[in-house]
Parts: sequence; C-alpha cells; structure tokens
Amino acid sequence: MFRDKIQNARHAYTYDDFLLVPNASWVEAKDVDTSVNLTKDIKLNIPIMSAAMDTVTESDLAIAIAREGGVGVIHRNITQEAQVEEVRKVKNAEDITVRDVITISPDSSVATVQELMENESVSGLPVMDGEEIIGIISKRDVRPYLKNGSKTLVKEIMTSEVVTITEKASPEEALDLAYEHKVERLPVVDENKKLVGILTIKDILNQDQHPNAALGKDGKYLVAAACGPFDLDRAMALDQAGADIISIDCAHAHNMNVVKFAETIKENIDADLCMGNIATREAAEDLIAHGADGLKVGIGPGSICTTRIVAGIGVPQLTAIADVADVADDAGIPVIADGGLRYSGDIAKAIGAGADVVMLGSLLAGTYESPGDLVTMNGRKYKQYRGMGSMGAMTGGSGGGADRYFQELEKGNSGQMKHSKLVPEGVEGVVQYKGRVSEVVFQLVGGLKASMGYCGAPDIPTMKKVARFVKISSSGIKESHPHDLLITNESPNYPTLD
Ligand code: XMP
Repeated sequence: MFRDKIQNARHAYTYDDFLLVPNASWVEAKDVDTSVNLTKDIKLNIPIMSAAMDTVTESDLAIAIAREGGVGVIHRNITQEAQVEEVRKVKNAEDITVRDVITISPDSSVATVQELMENESVSGLPVMDGEEIIGIISKRDVRPYLKNGSKTLVKEIMTSEVVTITEKASPEEALDLAYEHKVERLPVVDENKKLVGILTIKDILNQDQHPNAALGKDGKYLVAAACGPFDLDRAMALDQAGADIISIDCAHAHNMNVVKFAETIKENIDADLCMGNIATREAAEDLIAHGADGLKVGIGPGSICTTRIVAGIGVPQLTAIADVADVADDAGIPVIADGGLRYSGDIAKAIGAGADVVMLGSLLAGTYESPGDLVTMNGRKYKQYRGMGSMGAMTGGSGGGADRYFQELEKGNSGQMKHSKLVPEGVEGVVQYKGRVSEVVFQLVGGLKASMGYCGAPDIPTMKKVARFVKISSSGIKESHPHDLLITNESPNYPTLD
C-alpha cells in the first residue's frame, strides 16, 4: 500500500517542462485581443494581476498596472485603515476634480478676492450663500476693478448664471457643457446640489490618456485588495472603500475553515470574491461550491517561496493550473495562475494550460512603482523583494503575513515580535531594478501576443483551447535558452545579470 503511494504517484509538471507547439495560423501578433474576464463580471484588457505582496503592490503600482489594462491586489501587511487609503488612492487616481474648493461670500470685496486668488493660486471662486452656490467669479471679472474699484462687491460683478455639473458626468460631457456655455470651470455638485468640487477645462484636456486602462463598474481604475482568511472587518472596509475584488489571501485555501468562512465574507461584500491559493481539482470544487468568483492557483511555485522545501508541499504549477482549470472551466469560473512565472512565454504557457489570468510577483517587483527604495550594489540598481511568509514580512508591517500561513505572532517582553516562534515559508532578497511598469508590461504582453500568433489564437479564450504542448527534456530546456555565446547586450525581456 505504501509502495503503491510512491509507484502510482502522478508526474506533475511546470513551465520549463513544456513548450507550446506552433499551429497553422492566420493570426498576426499585433491584432490579437488580450482581454479576459477576471471574475464573472470583471474584465481586464491584459491578463495580468500584480501580487498582494508588500514589496509589490501598493497604490502606485496598482494605478500603473490598471492603466496598462491589468489589476493590482493591494497587500494587507499594513493596517486596515492604511490599506483602505491605498484602495481610495487608486479609485481617485484620475480624479481631476479639485475637492478642497476655496469659496467666497457675495459681500466680499474685489480686494479680498484678489488676495485670496493670489494666496491660493486659483483663478476662479464659487460664490456661496451658505450652502447654496449663487455665482462664480474669475480673475477676468475682477481685473477691471483692481485699480479704482477694489471695494466693489463680489455680488455686483460675479457671473450669476452658474453652469454646474454632477459627479456622475464623464469628462466628455463636462467638456461639451463647458464649450456650450463658454465657461472655463464647472462647479461639481452632488444630488442635493451641494458643492463638492470644481473642474476646469484645462485639467480635463491635460488628463493623461490611457485607452487600454482597466475600469470597474464605477468607471474608475480597477483595484483588488487582499484580506486575511478570517478578517471580515477588513474585507467589509475594503469593499466599502470601492475595491472591485476582494482576494482572500491564504497559503492553503483548501483549509475547510477558510472555505466555510469565505461564505460569510461573500455574504457581506458587494465586490467579487477571489480565493486562493489552491493546487487541486478537489479544492476547486469546494471553493466554487462556497461562492468563489475566481480561483487563485499556486502552492509553492513563487520565486521567494520555500513552502515546498519547508513543508514538502506543492504541485508543480502547470499541472496545478490544468487540474483546477478542468473544474473551473466547466463552472465558468476564471483561474488565476499565481507565482513561478519568469518570462513572457510562461504567461502563454499558463493560459495554454487553462489559466485566464496570471499573477506576478517577482516580474513586477523592482519596478519604479513598486514599494521600497532603490539600492545600488556593484554599480547595479536593485529593489527589495520578499515573500509574505518570510521572517521579515511576518514580523514587519502589520504582521499580515503570519495568518496567511496559519501562524500567530507572539510578542516578547520588549513588545517586539518573537522571531523564534515563527516558521517562515519564504525568503527575503533583492531583484534587479526594471524601470517603469509600463515598459515591463509592454514586453510581457508583447511576448504573449507573439505566442498567440504562433498558436493561431486571436483571443485568450481561443488560446486556452488551441494551445498544444510538447514535453521537453533537460536538453530541450538547454537548447531553448541562448547558448554558446557570451551575451554582450542585455535584452529587455531576457534578463541575464541577476
Ligand atoms: P513570483 O514567482 O511571481 O511569486 O515571485 C509570487 C507569488 O508567491 C506567493 N508568495 C509566497 N509563497 N511563501 C510562499 O510559499 C511566501 O513567503 C510567499 N510570498 C508570496 C504569492 O502567491 C505570490 O503571488
């Protein structure tokens, strides 16, 4: 019986064990559609998520990845309040409405207006009678009175026909309205006609354009946020702050207490619920039965993970993806392949094996937008990257890494966390500085598109179906990488100097 366990064990494989086989293709890489459903209701324009890790995803990186068409998962190794604030920053990233509006009373003088405008560097002020906006006054209105009429009152010279706009209006609607009424600024009001901000044509026109950005139902950048497996409070707070996806962040989501509690979380949030991590079809069945809108696959493939070594647990990633995808595909639930991706070709392989989306840690760590400072060693630039189960992550921040691994933090007499009471499942280190997220994503998506061209897949759902694999040997891997030369120019999508 024991012998059977060993003899009958399946082979399991990962990215390097396979290559995709080229198919007859009418598809040009430049024409492929990389959009994909991340949950039943949420669409991404590129199949990439950034990992919920404290050296990867805070608001800066989440904004950058959303602009490219993907989504970031804000990590939870910070207080609930700080994490909520990070979600809000993403949601307000494109908010060009000035919220701290400086207003003036109708009985103020031109001199007061002039002083206020100079001190606050503004060129127009809403005129308020209590809560009601009754006019607007601009630099142009006051200019003729500056020399000889500085005591003139605002109400005598203000424009009293105020064109307002509601918060729901799109930038295009705002522009149309401003042009129609020949005004430069529009006060923004809420449903009770209360002034909430001011919008200028200049700011609308200067707004950065990101045509491929991933947007939520609210029209703002998509953002996901991680919560602990039993942290209902945090899940609800993140949901209320506008997170589009709540991601239950756990090293073993097939722990049945986690599965059961997911139902409670699901009942209490509007956002979609993504759950992970898992690596088997049985886990997929249980999580789907308990309400998961998306499944995250990956036990131990990550570049900073030691779970497979410390606990001897895991399933090589390509097999894990395929096993989960067989169940998830039937149920119409998207699969996120989390961890272990080193090159753009791995994204294509993950999708070929049944994933809809990949989650990246190390490939996005070390970017300009990832948290942490640059360090220079031997003339090269690096940024810190650490596992959430590493000693540093479990005892640093808010200790959010510890319950991911079902461990409890214990404080010593000095109030410091006791390192000796933790069993880490991750390591800490640095990765090479990679420049902007947009540049990294350009290369990753470019590689994926090339792969889809080779496979003859015009879109991601077709790629999942038509991709064919060959199993390769260690000589095949050796042949796949550049060989028999000394690389002199580093390529942006094939780092050689780590
Ligand atoms: P990559 O390979 O992209 O992997 O760097 C990122 C993913 O690894 C997981 N993760 C961990 N797994 N110990 C683990 O066993 C850890 O300390 C750890 N930290 C992160 C996580 O799923 C992440 O998205």
